[in-house]
Amino acid sequence: MVESVTITDNRNGQTIEIPIVDGGVSAEQWSKILPGIWFYDPAFMTTAVAESAITFVDGDKGILEYRGYPIEQLAEQSTYLEVAYLLLHGDLPTAEQAEQWVREITYHTFIHENMRKRFLEGFHYDSHPMGILVSAVAALSTYYPDAKDIFDPETRHKQIIRLIAKMPTLAAAAHRFSVGMPFFYPDNSLDFPSNFLSMVLKTAESRFDADPTLVRAMDALFILHADHEQNCSTAAMRVVGSTHVDPYSACAAACAALYGPLHGGANEAVIRMLTEIGSRENIPAFIRAVKEGHGRLQGFGHRVYKNYDPRAKIIQDIAYKVFEVTGKNPLLDIALGLEEVALADEYFISRKLYPNIDFYSGLIYQAMGFPVEMFPVLFAIPRVTGWLAHWVEMLEHNTKIARPRQLFVGSPRRDYVPMSSR
Ligand code: ACO
Repeated sequence: MVESVTITDNRNGQTIEIPIVDGGVSAEQWSKILPGIWFYDPAFMTTAVAESAITFVDGDKGILEYRGYPIEQLAEQSTYLEVAYLLLHGDLPTAEQAEQWVREITYHTFIHENMRKRFLEGFHYDSHPMGILVSAVAALSTYYPDAKDIFDPETRHKQIIRLIAKMPTLAAAAHRFSVGMPFFYPDNSLDFPSNFLSMVLKTAESRFDADPTLVRAMDALFILHADHEQNCSTAAMRVVGSTHVDPYSACAAACAALYGPLHGGANEAVIRMLTEIGSRENIPAFIRAVKEGHGRLQGFGHRVYKNYDPRAKIIQDIAYKVFEVTGKNPLLDIALGLEEVALADEYFISRKLYPNIDFYSGLIYQAMGFPVEMFPVLFAIPRVTGWLAHWVEMLEHNTKIARPRQLFVGSPRRDYVPMSSR
């Protein structure tokens, strides 16, 4: 039996039956019977903006899959670059495809020398690295004018390779400039996460090999952050990309969305919150204040997950491995205490508020030596893959510009009044 909904326009008794397909109803069908009547849905709470085959999330069950593969298996067994291939191409690569993919990305890690000398070094010494990254990604479009040819698959492929490859270089540069350290060129003898850690942590060594546990943790964190279906920054990528602008400009818009504290800035907020709480004894008072409406428990709650965020579980395991190398982050005890209290509290239970990916990721980054300002930058490095996968999918399925409607609630027409008569 085909499932459907029937809509009746009570003004004239007209009805229309709309089939439910893949969990949604077509707005096109709706507008046939109700032209000029818009859905009022400012935060896209109930609007599907795309048919997508990339990432599956079941927020009630706490399931996350990239192209059908459970996130737990990918985080455990795959690498970020393999996952990037999977997200963009739909299937895991063969050994030959993987080798070519990794080689291509490895040989595109360098940035134009002018970009480093004139553009990046032009920022004020205490610039926020995410502000630098947003601007740097946008600036890339001026170096690659061919990127405007967005309907040529080969050109698109080239920009995808460039963006994935250059993100760690730009991110490391943003960090080094913001802490007054010299920039180091990529070391193409290293793998993707090792190369990033080398550019971030190197001081005087000719070759820097990060601890293998930290390399693996970084790669797993990249995998966990690579995509999350129609999140806010991906929505920004789609909306801006729908104007047919080049992918660097669209990615800069997505990066800007990720800068916001409700999205990529949440793990920074978690660290600030844990620092402010200071010790386990202060947890009950903090929870009480949150329940009374004074602030939020950062790193808890999610628009989609109304269950434990599956990524939060994986991250907790990674945290313990990282702390064996770096020493335990002193804020961990407060985080564990908070989680324990919140998960047993009626306020959080009834609102289905569970830890999300950000609750523990900041603790790991901090233990690895990253300042909190770098947290959204670390998120952006792999998320560029998700943005690009959705951008390609959109260009292949829909070439219409995104243009929402509004419900006008302003003044009715009135005549201009000269200043002397107001
Ligand atoms: N602490 C306390 N109460 C909360 C929290 C929280 N973290 N999150 C939601 N609530 C409460 C709200 O006050 C509201 O209660 P009410 O019904 O009594 O008014 C109810 O739960 C529903 O909250 P909404 O704001 O409607 O939920 P929404 O889906 O819009 O928000 C969001 C999701 C933004 C993630 C929210 O849970 C939040 O602000 N969390 C803290 C910030 C955070 O961790 N963000 C990271 C998100 S993950 C990511 O971007 C990678």
